[in-house]
Amino acid sequence: MKNNKIWITTCLAAFSLGFVQKSEPTLKEAFQNSFYVGAALNKAQFSGKDTKAQELVKKQFNTISPENVLKWGPVHPKPEEYNFKPADDYVAFGQQNKMFIVGHTLVWHQQTPDWVFEDEAGKPVSREVLLKRMENHISTVVGRYKGKIQGWDVVNEAIADQGGQMRPTKWLSIIGEDFAQKAFEYAHKADPQAELYYNDYSLYRPDKREGVIRLVKSLQAKGIKVKAIGMQGHYGLTVPTMEQVEASIVAFSKLGVEVNFTELDIDVLPNPSQRQGADIAETFDADQKFNVYSSGLPDSVQQKLTKRYADLFTLFRKHQDKIGRITFWGVTDANSWLNNWPIKGRTSYPLLFDRQYQPKPAYQAILNMAAQKK
Ligand code: G3I
Repeated sequence: MKNNKIWITTCLAAFSLGFVQKSEPTLKEAFQNSFYVGAALNKAQFSGKDTKAQELVKKQFNTISPENVLKWGPVHPKPEEYNFKPADDYVAFGQQNKMFIVGHTLVWHQQTPDWVFEDEAGKPVSREVLLKRMENHISTVVGRYKGKIQGWDVVNEAIADQGGQMRPTKWLSIIGEDFAQKAFEYAHKADPQAELYYNDYSLYRPDKREGVIRLVKSLQAKGIKVKAIGMQGHYGLTVPTMEQVEASIVAFSKLGVEVNFTELDIDVLPNPSQRQGADIAETFDADQKFNVYSSGLPDSVQQKLTKRYADLFTLFRKHQDKIGRITFWGVTDANSWLNNWPIKGRTSYPLLFDRQYQPKPAYQAILNMAAQKK
């Protein structure tokens, strides 16, 4: 008995001195009754080449998205040629780790090879030919992962940045306004159980929000089930405001769809043109005045990033009844696309884990928020 007493006293002492860490919940555990939490993975991460990243992903997340391997270009580079190995590995990693597996993306104006839209002579193909190519692609890719990939970004970034009209793309000019409807119909036919999503950026902007609402209402009017609207969430430290994000969460949920944050990251770097959105085509020449934290992030900026993520997750938890998933666009700062956009070769700090795979203060702030009573 006397020994036990000594033992317990020692433990408590050790605990109060922080030796014994009461095991904190991970991100997925902290929000297991709220929404999925995940990350976009690159080849090195899901293939296991980046073992540390893979351990982090398995520990912290319960949903994954493919950063690039399921886009048209990488998976279907030539008319008769599919490159499924990387995507097979991505799906296998997700299944082995009981992840909610997302497919990104079937119809997009970026990373889609020119051959899709052209005949042998390089001339634009007809509506019928492009619809056939879209249907073949979707039935082949969605069909291959039927029952394995649980949700698809069917159409990505089809609304213009200004004014809320359809973005002027080859999909729109060759097929017409119903290209999105066709894409959703083909995807549903290929896997009737798969959740189907519309995905876009800057959806906190009223004009773009109204454009997406018009599109989704038109799809619903055709009997198409849109499970969720994906707000990508490529945000800055001050843009958008929480009120702007909340207005879109509430507006979209009124359509009877879930709202997902599908590509979350917060850019702390100064940008030319006060950049907003995520139009990958909008790039600028390298200029050191925009690469200001190459030797480390100042505490003052780290604190702003921490508060920004805490505010966002407070909002997400407030609307957890409307939100299905929060996916970060990358795992650690080291592999974020924001190190090369809109200017190549910068040192960015947009995510919750640093270049040593260690949690940043923002990570702790989110868990502290989650631990507080609602
Ligand atoms: O795989 C090739 C490689 O073989 C080649 O050597 C290398 C040299 O250029 O390019 C590699 O492809 C790059 C690919 O990422 C894989 O790393 C492409 O050039 C590059 O453009 C591509 O960037 C991706 C970008 O989408 C392309 O559109 C980013 O990683 C990815 O984070 C970004 O993600 C998009 C979402 O899909 C949609 N929303 C916006 C988001 C950010 O732009």
